[in-house]
Amino acid sequence: MDANARELAQNFDIERLTREFYENPYPTYRALRQHAPVKRMPNGSYFLTRYDDLLAAYKNTDIFSSDKKKEFAPKYGVSPLYEHHTTSLVFNDPPIHTSVRRLIMGALSPRAIAGMEADLIALVERLLDALAEKGEVDLIGDYAAAIPVEVIGNLLDVPRDERAPLRGWSLAILGALEPVIDKEALARGNSAVEDFLDYLRGLVARRRAKPGNPDRDVLTRLIQGESDGARLSEKELLHNCIFLLNAGHETTTNLIGNGLVALSKHEVEQARLIESPELIKTAVEEILRYESSNQLGNRMTTREVELGGVSLPSGTSVTLCIGAANRDEKHFHDPEKFDIARQPNRHLAFGSGAHQCAGMALARLEGAIAISRFLGRFPAYALKAAPVRGGRARFRGFLSVPCTVSQE
Ligand code: HEM
Repeated sequence: MDANARELAQNFDIERLTREFYENPYPTYRALRQHAPVKRMPNGSYFLTRYDDLLAAYKNTDIFSSDKKKEFAPKYGVSPLYEHHTTSLVFNDPPIHTSVRRLIMGALSPRAIAGMEADLIALVERLLDALAEKGEVDLIGDYAAAIPVEVIGNLLDVPRDERAPLRGWSLAILGALEPVIDKEALARGNSAVEDFLDYLRGLVARRRAKPGNPDRDVLTRLIQGESDGARLSEKELLHNCIFLLNAGHETTTNLIGNGLVALSKHEVEQARLIESPELIKTAVEEILRYESSNQLGNRMTTREVELGGVSLPSGTSVTLCIGAANRDEKHFHDPEKFDIARQPNRHLAFGSGAHQCAGMALARLEGAIAISRFLGRFPAYALKAAPVRGGRARFRGFLSVPCTVSQE
C-alpha cells in the first residue's frame, strides 16, 4: 500500500493525468500529501497538497502573485483568451484587483443576497415541478445547471430571453484553463470570448442608456464605478463581467450536482439529512470540502521562498490543490469520510485571503436551497445509470446524471 502510494506520488504529472485520476483523484492526493507535498512537476512548476502550504500561499500575496501574464503568454499567445484571463480580477494583483473587487463585493452584501432568496426559491420550485412532471431527468441539465445561470443572469440583469448562450460560453472559456488543452478547446475558448464580448458591448450600451439600481445590479455598479470617481476602462469592464458570469456557473452547478450524487452514494448521510433538514448548512460545507467543485488554483512566486522545506525560485508557477488540502488529515478528522454534520470544517473550497471567493455567500445559499428542496420533494430519487464526469481536473463535476424522481 505504502509502496503503491510512493509510486503514485513519484509518477504524478499534472500534464499527464490518467483516467483513474479523473475518476477519483483522492488516492493520488493522499499519496502526494504523504510523500511529496511540494512536488516538482516535469515542466518546472510545483504542485502543493498540504493545507498549511496552501494557506501560506493564499495569505502571502506579495510572494505568491495571482498575475498570470507571464504564465498565460505561451499558453494562449496573443488571443482573446489571453486578454480575457489577464484582465479578470482573479488573475490580477492590486491595484486592478482591489478596485474591481470592491465594486463587486458591494453588490454581494449579505443584505443584497438576502434580497435574492425569494426569487431563488420560486425558481427552484418551478424547476422541481418540471422534474416531477418528467419523472426521468438529468440532474445536471434539468436542475443543477439551470439554477446558477438564472441567479447570475439576475445579478447582472441580463434579459431572460438572452441567457441561453451564457452556459456554453462559460464552459468553453473555463475549459481552456485546464492544465493541458488541445487546439479545438483553444479555438472554442477564443470564439466564446469574442462572442461574449460582442454580446456584452450591446448590453453595456443599453445599460448606459438606461441605468439600473446599483444596489442590486452589478453591471450598473461596474459601469458607474466608485463614488470617488474611479472607473474601470471599457476592456476591464467587459472582461470582469465575463469573469463574473463564468465564476458562478460551473462551480455552483457542480456544488449542487456533486452534492446530490454524493448523498445518493452515502445512504446513511442522505437519510440523516432528509430526517433533519436543519443540517443543510453543515451538509453544504461538507459537500464543498469532500468534492470541491474548484480543485486547483494557481500562483507565481515573485521571489525565492521556502515552502514545506523546499526552496522555490522566483518566477515559479505553483498549483494549489484545494481538493487535496480539503482532505488533509492534519486539519480534518477522518478526512475521507463524508459527514454532513462535520464541525469544525474550515475547508478551502472558496480559497482564502485577498482573492477568497466573492460569491461564496450566494453559492452557499444556492446550494442549500437547491439541495434541501430537492430532497424534500424527492426523498426517493435514484440514479438510473452511472453519472457522466466532466473530465476536468480543475472543475470537478458531472456533465449528466440520469435519475428518476417520484413524489412519495
Ligand atoms: C460553489 C461555488 C463556488 C466555488 C467553489 C468558488 C470558488 C472560488 C475560488 C476557489 C476562488 C479563489 C480563486 C483564487 O484565489 O485563485 C473564487 C474566486 C471568485 N469567485 Fe467564486 N466560487 C463559487 C461561486 C461563485 C459565485 C456564485 C460567484 C459570483 C456571484 C463567484 C465569484 C467569484 C469572484 C468574483 C472571485 C474572484 C475574487 C477575487 O479575485 O478577489 N464565485 N471562487
